[in-house]
Amino acid sequence: MPKLIGDKKLNIAVFISGTGSNFKNLIKHSLKKNSKFKIILVISSKSNALGLNYAKRYKIKKKIISYLNIRDAERNILFTLNKNKIDLICLAGFMKILTNNFIKNFKGKIINIHPSLLPKYRGLNTHQRVIDNKEKFSGCTVHYVNSRLDSGKIILQKKVKVFKNDTKIKLSKRVLKQEHILYPKALKKVLFNL
Ligand code: GRF
Repeated sequence: MPKLIGDKKLNIAVFISGTGSNFKNLIKHSLKKNSKFKIILVISSKSNALGLNYAKRYKIKKKIISYLNIRDAERNILFTLNKNKIDLICLAGFMKILTNNFIKNFKGKIINIHPSLLPKYRGLNTHQRVIDNKEKFSGCTVHYVNSRLDSGKIILQKKVKVFKNDTKIKLSKRVLKQEHILYPKALKKVLFNL
């Protein structure tokens, strides 16, 4: 893991594929006075990801990666990360699965946010599955990324109550609100526990 030395801020790349509300939120935190990190790069697997607008607004370098061939895609990403001296990767709604080989290259330096209380409800469509199973609580988790999907060591979690009349849209909105509190907190924890 990179060390925090003096006032040097760590360079972060955020990986997105969609709306990018977590990306935007992390940018806002990075701009706070005592922030220990800078977001200097966004990688998107989709050229039309809405979140890319924040790159423009906040003048952050963006790189759109074509995933026609996964080996080329990851080689391209690694090259860009090294060129930009990236210390830590934050996945935020990135809809591609990183290969073991890629993860090995950034071991212990990739974190992700997932909209459930892991280890429950790994993978996609979490909110609907939570509702269908009549769970009383759901939530969100920030965790390290390892070679198994949504299975790495948990950094922080936040519970969110599921209501009787919940829909996946209502629940996802409430969970997302908590994600925006949890991700910066977890990031701080990762950076300060070095
Ligand atoms: C979030 O719910 C996150 O937990 C999941 O994908 C969603 C991304 O939302 N991995 P956004 O693009 O950050 O708004």
